[in-house]
Amino acid sequence: MKIDKICCIGAGYVGGPTMSVIAQKNPQIQVTVVDLNHERIAAWNDADLNKLPIYEPGLDKVVAEARNRNLFFSTDVEKAIDEADMIFISVNTPTKTYGKGKGQAADLKYIELCARQIAAIAKSDKIVVEKSTLPVRTAEALKSILDHTGNGVNFHVLSNPEFLAEGTAIQDLQKPDRILIGGENQEAIQALVDIYGAWVPTDRIITTNLWSSELSKLVANAFLAQRVSSINAISELCEVTGANVDEVARAIGMDSRIGSKFLRASVGFGGSCFQKDILNLVYIARSYNLYEVADYWEQVIMMNNHQKDRFADNIIKTLYNTVNGKNITLLGWAFKKDTNDTRESAAIYVADHLLDEEAFITVYDPKVTAEQIYKDLDYLGTRSPAENRRLVKVVNSPYQACEQAHAIAILTEWDEFKAYNWQQIYDKVFKPAFLFDGRGVLDGQQLMMQGFTIYGIGRC
Ligand code: NAD
Ligand code: UGA
Repeated sequence: MKIDKICCIGAGYVGGPTMSVIAQKNPQIQVTVVDLNHERIAAWNDADLNKLPIYEPGLDKVVAEARNRNLFFSTDVEKAIDEADMIFISVNTPTKTYGKGKGQAADLKYIELCARQIAAIAKSDKIVVEKSTLPVRTAEALKSILDHTGNGVNFHVLSNPEFLAEGTAIQDLQKPDRILIGGENQEAIQALVDIYGAWVPTDRIITTNLWSSELSKLVANAFLAQRVSSINAISELCEVTGANVDEVARAIGMDSRIGSKFLRASVGFGGSCFQKDILNLVYIARSYNLYEVADYWEQVIMMNNHQKDRFADNIIKTLYNTVNGKNITLLGWAFKKDTNDTRESAAIYVADHLLDEEAFITVYDPKVTAEQIYKDLDYLGTRSPAENRRLVKVVNSPYQACEQAHAIAILTEWDEFKAYNWQQIYDKVFKPAFLFDGRGVLDGQQLMMQGFTIYGIGRC
């Protein structure tokens, strides 16, 4: 099966960067990324590379190299499907907000819409690739829709989950730990192997059956999130025993069976996927009556919620049990550094908690817009949009953000926070100068010498 043209449905955090790298590494293949969102496509096509819809280090260079050569962004979904030999589905699969499985199961309506659209348009054989993260056995449903509503052409469904992390997406795509391809048809599998083979060593391309591939994606995220919840659970124990969580992480991480990565205690994991994918895993386990399995994984989420709550509670307790009318500065709103993505960011929940206690909040994040911050708070529905705008101020300067603060909290590990003139900040805040480092990024000793009272996660 020779692939001349690829279409990717969904120009989001996965579709955009993944297809950019595939196009960069396979100049002979025409790659068209389509989306229903006109604004997003216009931003992908913007001549000013600073205006790409996603902030991701290195992405601008890759786009500059491939765009309008063999990489195209378009809203003409039908044309791209019609012309493609291989179609990636990279649309969102959020947690259901209604009906059966509400709050846990993945909402597959966008996936089904794609399948029906592909079936209706396709006039030649297609390889359909699941790039979105999906519940195990979704390929069966996809195949059924394609075969029953199509025009008699052949569809081969492959599972090819994406493992990139935001903030390091380009690096992850260019040097992946592994590429996973699940499928039944060997020729279709080989066609996708060849695309990745353009830059990924063969021993890093794993092929499995469809169900192992679909399930492995959920399991990988569950294991990663579990590590964060595990170290966060230990961080609370460190705080009451006098142990230091960084020292514990280092000591256990040097055991090669445990490994040193993903052991950074924090205010809690965020991002669009960890919570969603674990909830999905829990839902799947329960739907097979595997209650112990479901309860086991659900605890990872419960621990994460506890970590966010106790961080906010500690601010309130330290500020003499009330933050009513006090100014709390939040440095960082993105769910991690080097991304403008705020989905499920711990900052949203910490802010909401403090706003419930009638604090005034000022936010500074180097990459997140005020519009996005208000959108995140409004989405929670805890208070009216007008009330959110009355209580929360978003500013463009960290120094302005900290002026007259009763407390400062670090919620994202942006590198620039380390380089601030903290003496200047100290001079402008109310005393005692409380600083809550939810990411362990600042030099606590140095700041203490400058007069700050510091609270870090996992240390006394
Ligand atoms: P996203 O919301 O950023 O992008 C999805 C895009 O799909 C949106 O722009 C939306 O407009 C578009 N879309 C939805 N239905 C469409 C349709 N019928 N036709 C055309 N466009 C349509 O989502 P994302 O973060 O890119 O995630 C996509 C999938 O990849 C999810 O399943 C997610 O779990 C998975 N994933 C995400 C990441 C990540 O870092 N964000 C990493 C690995 C896997
Ligand atoms: C994660 C996985 O790492 C990717 O492999 C996966 O493809 C992706 O989810 C997905 O399916 O969406 P991402 O959420 O972008 O990637 O970022 P991570 O680096 O995994 O961080 C997730 C959250 O955990 C962040 O809030 C981060 O600050 C937090 N974290 C991470 C910690 O608190 N401590 C750590 O040691 C590591």
